[in-house]
Amino acid sequence: MDFEIVNGNITSLETECLVVGIQADATLTPSAREIDQAASGYIQEILNAGDIQGKSGETLLLQKVPGISARRVLLLGLGKADERSDRGSRKQITAAMAVIKSTSISSAVFALDKQVGADDDLYRQVRQLVEWSGSELYNYDETKSKKADPLKLELLGIVIGEDDNEIAEFALLDGVALVNGISTARDLGNLPGNVCTPTYLAEQAVELAEEVDNLTTTIVDEDEMAELGMHSLLSVGHGSEQPSKLIVMEFKGAQADEKPHVLVGKGITFDTGGISLKPGAAMDEMKFDMCGAASVFGAVTALCEMQPEINVVAIIAAAENMPSGHATKPGDIVTTMSGQTVEILNTDAEGRLVLCDALTYAERFEPQTVVDIATLTGACIIALGHHATGLLSNDDDLAAELLAAGDQAADKAWRLPLWDEFQEQLDSNFADIANIGGRAGGTVTAACFLSRFTKSFRWAHLDIAGTAWNSNGKAKGATGRCVPLLTQYLLNQSAGDASDENGDD
Ligand code: BES
Ligand code: MN
Ligand code: ZN
Repeated sequence: MDFEIVNGNITSLETECLVVGIQADATLTPSAREIDQAASGYIQEILNAGDIQGKSGETLLLQKVPGISARRVLLLGLGKADERSDRGSRKQITAAMAVIKSTSISSAVFALDKQVGADDDLYRQVRQLVEWSGSELYNYDETKSKKADPLKLELLGIVIGEDDNEIAEFALLDGVALVNGISTARDLGNLPGNVCTPTYLAEQAVELAEEVDNLTTTIVDEDEMAELGMHSLLSVGHGSEQPSKLIVMEFKGAQADEKPHVLVGKGITFDTGGISLKPGAAMDEMKFDMCGAASVFGAVTALCEMQPEINVVAIIAAAENMPSGHATKPGDIVTTMSGQTVEILNTDAEGRLVLCDALTYAERFEPQTVVDIATLTGACIIALGHHATGLLSNDDDLAAELLAAGDQAADKAWRLPLWDEFQEQLDSNFADIANIGGRAGGTVTAACFLSRFTKSFRWAHLDIAGTAWNSNGKAKGATGRCVPLLTQYLLNQSAGDASDENGDD
């Protein structure tokens, strides 16, 4: 499926389906009016008959509209003009794509008069239209014997005034890169734990580096991790037959001497809880416990396509958390790479155990910033539900930049406090730190644990426990959440970005 920018008169567009907007109270948008005039009032007649009111997400597919070249016209409700929002637009694009997918339409063109998204930023509008319509075409059938029928839709166009072509083409390419990044993250997340193991993730990283000139991958195996003193990370995989892996991908888009931004992803390819075994209900969903790693893969995939001027190091801490005779037991104490000792009071709080060593490893890159992404705490779902990613940081500016990137990319995060008051919940009688801090403020104390390993750099933590996947029925599956946020954040940091205030530090 390809996207293209289209100019010119929409009445003479050769397409199988022209999508035009109808505003609330059955009001014609400029594009709908053009079609209506060419069709001698045909559209207005349909509105007068009350077949579509223009409510957000309403659709009506028309065949053989007279006086125009398009074979079909899809009327799409855009709601009230003064109530435009990203959420509304996404719903509208989803509705339009549902109609397009359910027919044999092989080409369609959106003529939405710059009405996409919450504001008038054209780059953002085109990118969102591409990102959201492209994401509607995602289909997972990797592990089904019956594959989905090949997509009928081959071409999606977006009508733009000629003056805006340059920015629109740029936004289109970024949108396509994002769709690919999001799909990569969803594919990895959706794969079952018996396929997507730490070794599989490592192989994917090696393959990606083979395809991209300025991306290199290094795999740190268990022996090397032991030499580095990563006994906390290693303790998580002790109960598993699958060897743990530390996966390091280096993207070089800027000068060699420019310090990198580091992403760190939690890659628990299955989380049984270990000896602190989880209850059985919905335990299958713990295959999604590598979605932090998946979103890092997704962001790297998008970056490789966009090639911004920035250096990025992506670190994935991959392990499988299983119970067995070799598994770590509650009360065991391990020494982290930082030298700090940890009392593992609950083997189900394993994410922080792999992340802490990966964060210490990040120090060697002298990073400008470090952002970790993890399905870390069930408590984050209780605190923020499924719409916002939890954000905690030791740096107010970094937190603000990530929140802004999330808003820009319509992939929202919300900040939680990382106050010292919470730190003492991690006190241990037998080690430097306990790996759990009790039920109160579970997301905060998890981040407090990580903060003990991030003192030497600007760091933020994204808890995607509530946003990384959907548990419901047909929608069950990985969302790709945080690929847009992370990619946007890195684009904003890149040298080529005009809004970058710290461009040359
Ligand atoms: N991967 C889980 C967190 C999780 C649970 C994410 C459910 C999404 C849905 C994590 O490893 C975990 O088990 N955390 C524990 C921590 C507790 C033992 C302090 C939790 O949240 O219950
Ligand atoms: Mn766990
Ligand atoms: Zn986990």
